[in-house]
Amino acid sequence: MPEKSGIENLLHETRRFSPSSEFVAQAVAKPELYSEAKADRLEFWAKQARALHWHKPFTKTLDFSNAPFASWFEDGELNVSYNTLDRHVIEGRGDRIAIYFEGENGDTSTYTYAQLLTEVKKAANAFQTLGLVSGDRVAIYMPMVPEAVIAMLATVRLGAIHSVIFGGFSAESLRSRINDAEAKLIITADGGYRKGKVSALKPAVDEAIADSACPSVKAVVVLKRGGNEVSWNQNLDHWWSDVVDSASPEHEAKAFGAEHPLFILYTSGTTGKPKGILHTSGGYLTQATFTHKNVFDIHPTKDIYWCTADVGWITGHTYVVYGPLANGVSQVIYEGTPDTPDWGRWWKIVEKYKVTILYTAPTAIRTFMKLGREIPDKYDLSSIRVLGSVGEPINPEAWIWYRDVIGGNNAPIVDTWWQTETGAIMISPLPGITATKPGSAMIPLPGISMEIVDDAGKKVTSGGGYLTITEPWPSMLRGIWGDNERYKETYWSQHPGKYFAGDGAKLDTDGDVWILGRVDDVMNVSGHRLSTAEIESALVSHPFVAEAAVVGAKDETTGQAVVAFVILRSDQVAAAGSDSDVSKLLRDHVAKEIGAIAKPRTIMVVAELPKTRSGKIMRRLLRDVAEDRPIGDVTTLADTSVMSVITDKLEAGATD
Ligand code: WT7
Repeated sequence: MPEKSGIENLLHETRRFSPSSEFVAQAVAKPELYSEAKADRLEFWAKQARALHWHKPFTKTLDFSNAPFASWFEDGELNVSYNTLDRHVIEGRGDRIAIYFEGENGDTSTYTYAQLLTEVKKAANAFQTLGLVSGDRVAIYMPMVPEAVIAMLATVRLGAIHSVIFGGFSAESLRSRINDAEAKLIITADGGYRKGKVSALKPAVDEAIADSACPSVKAVVVLKRGGNEVSWNQNLDHWWSDVVDSASPEHEAKAFGAEHPLFILYTSGTTGKPKGILHTSGGYLTQATFTHKNVFDIHPTKDIYWCTADVGWITGHTYVVYGPLANGVSQVIYEGTPDTPDWGRWWKIVEKYKVTILYTAPTAIRTFMKLGREIPDKYDLSSIRVLGSVGEPINPEAWIWYRDVIGGNNAPIVDTWWQTETGAIMISPLPGITATKPGSAMIPLPGISMEIVDDAGKKVTSGGGYLTITEPWPSMLRGIWGDNERYKETYWSQHPGKYFAGDGAKLDTDGDVWILGRVDDVMNVSGHRLSTAEIESALVSHPFVAEAAVVGAKDETTGQAVVAFVILRSDQVAAAGSDSDVSKLLRDHVAKEIGAIAKPRTIMVVAELPKTRSGKIMRRLLRDVAEDRPIGDVTTLADTSVMSVITDKLEAGATD
């Protein structure tokens, strides 16, 4: 179990923050949730599931006889789009605002639930006309605009399966995801606004599918948003406005089985190839809806909710699209980055829409903290009553700053631990119940069973170990698209009978959980998951590179940063030029292969890499170098002099 420095201090954190009595009095989540779930976990989840609309009610809650493959509410039938839209309209909530859209360029629009439903029905009809049927896959590569949500809901309305690909991924990444899922339809745009510029999305789609590289693709729908000139393929391309605007606004949502696939979302693992995480309908929507309502204390008629995540990530799926819309709350969707036109943008949005619940990532909080409280202090943030954090551990300093400066020293903070694979929040305080500790995600939610175990798989009652989930949960992944073996191997083989999340964690003496971060070769940069192996294989795909090793090094703002060590091919050293030339070139190469988010912060050209006698790279030692620490124990290296060769070169100033 790798030790992380500093955690011992955290475990002695004595500050506690209890919700105010006013908050407690109006809180959605009551303490009985814990006792109810404890008394009968399955009945507890069945009760949450019954809060949805079922075309055909389920009679069975869980079938885990084919473990680790689970099915929840299997004989029930529902339509997820119906639950997020039609239901509100039919029950008289159609005039409520679903989305306040704020474009980065200043454009704004609003959609009521009734209007959003009409748009989704039109898009569903349009997609159907293009040949989409239940079970087909749809790749969505869009800016953060309402049409991205509409495209997702129209897809699932038809029983088709979306695979949203974050707009920052490269054409290469897009192609491999389109092909892995064999997508029939691609939904994209002529750009979106980010950092004051218009992003290029359609050119990446064109490049990805050029030369019949994606034979499954039968049509591409292009939304007009950024106004970029786009090249046009008469056989494939359709403007959104041509196919959607004229489509019929009538569309009946058919029921699908609870285990009907809902979406695939690719995420990085320990090997080079991203995994297509598969989620299904009934269980996912149950836990998305329950957790959204209780963790964020949603009062649908009063709250203005804002989750800053892009729909390209799981947070955007569960806490922008499915949870909030199923709960019928009004939410803000912002297209761009927090620094455009200046660093006051987010706080201006909070003030303008009177946002009551804000859900964001520690990396953003740390960035604002560094810039100083003068910026948020210029705006009226008094509407905020709940603050959420997700994606990486939040350090106590950032936690306190968030509460104090953004939350007026009053709003409860919910630090929510979960993953693409878990589908919804698993560990979190409940804001009207839990007395929180800055930096701890506290305890598993009602209905969730977890254990921290040691190397031998034994449960630890205090101290550190591996974070495991011991019972199936409704929104658990149902597998890896097209690879059942990999699903079993990746998540269920380390600790028999238990799901292993990949994170280390410690329990303090009160039984509260402190997440230590990944214990595998997965990095977390600004709350985004990146694989060391994937970046290494991107680096060695360049003709200059013989070998590469990538580590995640501590970074004050982004949590971790990508640091790469490369050995150049001896016959290419002259061609490669200076270390700084080659470093720039390779950083751009990684951006092209994977996407800008994967660009190494630093690339160090070295003569050798530290390896064990069995040839395994000792990343621990490279992390010492990257974090500028004394080098740890080198005795297991095949050649113990390697580290001094590396550090001597770096000390001579020949880095980057
Ligand atoms: C990994 C999952 C879940 C949405 C965003 C990321 C880390 C997530 C926390 C938290 C400490 C966290 C874990 C996890 N993580 N939330 N509150 N405290 N670490 O989703 O890309 O699937 O990454 O993010 O390491 O395994 P993801």
